[in-house]
Amino acid sequence: MCGIVGYIGSEQAVPILIDSLKTLEYRGYDSAGVTVYNGKLETYKVAGRIMELEKVLPIDTPGNVGIGHTRWATHGKPETRNAHPHLSSNVSVVHNGIIENYMVLKERLIGLGYEFKSDTDTEVIAHLLHFNMNHDGGKHLLDGLTETIKELEGSYAIAAMCEEEPDIIAFARKDSPLVIGIGKGSNYAASDVTAFLKHTREVIFISDNEVGLLRSDSFEIFDLNGNSVSRDIEIIEWNLEAAEKAGYEHFMLKEIHEQPTSIRNTFAGKLSEIEGTVTLDELYLQPEEVKRLKRATIIACGTSWNAGILGKYLFEKLAGIHTDIETASEFRYSNPILCGEELTIAITQSGETADTLAAVRSSTSYGCRSIAITNVVGSTITRESDSVLYTRAGPEIGVAATKTFTAQLLVLYMLAINLGRTRGVISAAEAKDLIAGIKRLPGQIQKVLDRKDAINECAIQFADKRDYFFIGRYLNYPVALEGALKLKEISYIHAEGYAAGELKHGPLALITDETPVVAIATKGHTYEKILSNIKEVKARNATVIAVANDDDTEIEKYVDVVIRVPSSHELLAPVLSSVALQLLSYYTALARDCSIDKPRNLAKSVTVE
Ligand code: F6R
Repeated sequence: MCGIVGYIGSEQAVPILIDSLKTLEYRGYDSAGVTVYNGKLETYKVAGRIMELEKVLPIDTPGNVGIGHTRWATHGKPETRNAHPHLSSNVSVVHNGIIENYMVLKERLIGLGYEFKSDTDTEVIAHLLHFNMNHDGGKHLLDGLTETIKELEGSYAIAAMCEEEPDIIAFARKDSPLVIGIGKGSNYAASDVTAFLKHTREVIFISDNEVGLLRSDSFEIFDLNGNSVSRDIEIIEWNLEAAEKAGYEHFMLKEIHEQPTSIRNTFAGKLSEIEGTVTLDELYLQPEEVKRLKRATIIACGTSWNAGILGKYLFEKLAGIHTDIETASEFRYSNPILCGEELTIAITQSGETADTLAAVRSSTSYGCRSIAITNVVGSTITRESDSVLYTRAGPEIGVAATKTFTAQLLVLYMLAINLGRTRGVISAAEAKDLIAGIKRLPGQIQKVLDRKDAINECAIQFADKRDYFFIGRYLNYPVALEGALKLKEISYIHAEGYAAGELKHGPLALITDETPVVAIATKGHTYEKILSNIKEVKARNATVIAVANDDDTEIEKYVDVVIRVPSSHELLAPVLSSVALQLLSYYTALARDCSIDKPRNLAKSVTVE
């Protein structure tokens, strides 16, 4: 997903902008560019990686103010002419988001004599800004930008510069993340804080329909009517070390290994084993409201959606709440039947997924109470939900979600126990048992990680296969879906996740001796059922890899390879199996020499519909 950066201060802008763009690489991009003021606006851009940009942009280019961009194509191919910044005479613009009415604006601007050089929606912003600054007696950059965004439909985070006002960067935001960093004698703008964390931890998250400007020693924020907006500065606790690879070959591997810690952070201070309670201070639901709840709807995409399936099972079992799980991109187009007494739970690690935000807005329009489960403090979803439960997994740089997924599972366990206790569905003794199990998870995850060599061997053995199946039942069904998603996104092997009982209704036709089948077969009330499903695929000559508990002495009779995970509370087993499958995907992708942290065609944060 696109990333924008801006710097204004006493230092040379180019090295800072390049460095900031590199920290945003994890968002996924296909082209990059920079404008720097060096007596005039100088713009350099390329289709490709930032290292390509560095080849054309002299690092010692003078200039203390500049903007930069990493682009992920939405309108127009990843070509240099489509890369940002986009220019209109003396104006330069970088933009994240989508301008929905750009065709109408483009025709108007062409009629006014503007010549378009790109296929992008962004170029209309540059020309419209130039027009608004010049047509009516002349306007300053900020006033021109304010007028411009009033004409834009869609989503945007914009940073803009103008040759005549080289001592400012103007910015604006609607439905696309934008944060400014407050330094000493320098200020920053970016799509997310990692871009300037090296320089400052003092930040302000810009809200929708706000515009503003940065000078080297000050900043101002306004609403669309020109009223000054006063905002508190927030201090970001994450430091840059937390976002470095710490000696691992890939961010993904580092993040997989962080899970004992990230899980501990997720539940820190919330669990009482003695009382059998989970305290969620950020949950703004009165006990009476919780008791009255008839239904919950979980809304999410991708990996977060897989977590949501487990959430459904947990809310139904532990809290007695009928729960639907909805794909966010489908939800608002599917005429949802909501009467306002339901609870909406949005799961999104980034907090910026456009489909999830739109679905939440749609459900709140019916008056539903909402809870967001997210990893990013200050992200858009946090401002749109009644309650926010943070996963506290720390920054995740690898595009494939790993530690944020298990942290989401943890929040779902804790929320289900909390609601279940309030509603009297589970007893204190049952809750205590689960809480004790949760507290054991970090150590158990560590045991799975310690077995990575065995998982690596298994991965290498099947790394040349074209297709994989992942099967599981009940709680292990979402684990199968997530195992398949992880494998396909980073190793590019075609992988299907299936509810094991569904195989005989079609997919069995695809099973051959060339199709490894991963069966999640941890102990629980569907264990015998998955053994039957294993026999079904063995009868079709499949090679079966089972994920099974340490104390399972039977499983080896039925399968070819066993990946062992510690025995746990039945409900908690998905966490341990998921970690094992993350390692399987990682080592398969490694054996296939894939671009693990930045898989092709994928972005970390999908902020467009
Ligand atoms: C896969 C992955 C994606 C995201 C999905 C939703 O590893 O990360 O499937 O889960 O794009 O993103 P969030 O959780 O940010 O809403």
